[in-house]
Amino acid sequence: MESKLIISKRFEISEIDPRIYGSFIEHMGRAVYEGIYQPGHPSANEQGFRQDVIELVKELNIPLIRYPGGNFLSGYNWEDGVGPKEQRPKRLDLAWRSLETNEVGMHEFANWIELIDSQINMAVNLGTRGIDEARNLVEYCNFEGGTYWSEQRKQHGQEKPFGIKTWCLGNEMDGPWQIGHKTADEYGRLAEEAGKAMKLVDDSIELVLCGSSSSHMPTFGDWELTVLDHAYDQIDYLSLHQYYGNPDDDLENYLARSLDMEEFIQGVVAICDSVKAKKHSKKQINLSFDEWNIWYHSNEHDEQVKPWQVAPPLLEDHYNFEDALLLGCLLITLLKHSDRVKIACLAQLVNVIAPIMTEAEGKAWRQTIFYPFMHVSNYGRGTVLTPIIDAPTYKTKDFDAVPYLETIAVLNKEKNEVIIFAVNRGKETMKFSVETTDFAIKKIIEFTEMTDFDIKETNTADKERVKPKYSDRYEVTDGGLSIELAPLSWNMIRCE
Ligand code: AHR
Repeated sequence: MESKLIISKRFEISEIDPRIYGSFIEHMGRAVYEGIYQPGHPSANEQGFRQDVIELVKELNIPLIRYPGGNFLSGYNWEDGVGPKEQRPKRLDLAWRSLETNEVGMHEFANWIELIDSQINMAVNLGTRGIDEARNLVEYCNFEGGTYWSEQRKQHGQEKPFGIKTWCLGNEMDGPWQIGHKTADEYGRLAEEAGKAMKLVDDSIELVLCGSSSSHMPTFGDWELTVLDHAYDQIDYLSLHQYYGNPDDDLENYLARSLDMEEFIQGVVAICDSVKAKKHSKKQINLSFDEWNIWYHSNEHDEQVKPWQVAPPLLEDHYNFEDALLLGCLLITLLKHSDRVKIACLAQLVNVIAPIMTEAEGKAWRQTIFYPFMHVSNYGRGTVLTPIIDAPTYKTKDFDAVPYLETIAVLNKEKNEVIIFAVNRGKETMKFSVETTDFAIKKIIEFTEMTDFDIKETNTADKERVKPKYSDRYEVTDGGLSIELAPLSWNMIRCE
């Protein structure tokens, strides 16, 4: 099988906003407690944060982390998580029917974020709460001093403002499962007014409005039109959430799921632009794909979990090799739409549908999906080049024409590197040629691939078998490349 990618340095999709490599930590399951925070664990630092987890998170080079939820957010009182720990209340978390001890809150999370050299994408509760609590939180976090909430922050040990730039107006407010679920009109008005008050406190912040919790929601489309109609002038981004799975065990169809993501993005862009046109607005709303991942392995297990525990094991999907391949396709899709997707959060980061897992009594380890994310987040920095792709296609249950090849090229002008990411969805070796129109590739710096595993192979704490290796199956030809993509493979090719 043969395929071709043609690129030119002059034809660009967009510069990449690094926040596209964001992630997400929710107060649920073992994400916070026994995940990032576990005082008493041999690797814990003085503050109780696991350093083995910090090391793995750093490998992923994540510039932004959404916090503190998720469904948890819609019943959360942020004030419970500040002030002396011993005075913090233990609460019912109604979203996950667990117990929240509030040992970790705003200050602790901000400390952890500093340790991993990232930024917070803060979310305000618009489920059970409203404008007042939202504007107070902005004052607490971002106001210099001399007011009630900014002085409270100082008393709690943080002299300088946290300076949080990106804020989410609630979570999945279209979902009937959400605490304080609202109609689009109810939410649109609330978000508009909460956003207005928040920006009056600090006009440098950026706001994310809740879009649909999946493209398959019955209200999809109408929801976006209505909430944008209300809040367009206050907000900067509209959110998208989507999780994928392979419950029918249909590999060809599963690996095509990134086409679904593509359609979702294109649809939401069209809706944003239609509202822009209707309002004669000069402002463009961009997208925050602030929850995306694979989530289905843990569903059955989670039905048996007893309620009202602290940090119960929830949503602990164990990812296999086919999941890593799809994750690679999803990352490439986000890059292809980097002109409009400016924020994206892999949901989530530790233990809960996560690339990183921890053993309570043992070590932290990398799941299969860790690697494609690590490659793209570390090397997919710069400008996405417009790809012209020629590849054969196949048909599946849900998709008429699925290219065997999924690929994109990124130009890193600072390092003078071109980085190509590619997935071979097919079961045969693919001859992949890269043609350049206005520059010559001199050499390959690195060709890394993930291939040759059983499609259902997973990693465990003891054995991280599914991982990348180097390949030498390439040739630099006439300023271009001739590469052999292994059957069912994830690939990263860095060239000069
Ligand atoms: O990420 C897990 C959950 O998925 C989040 O809490 C919620 O926002 C979504 O439904």
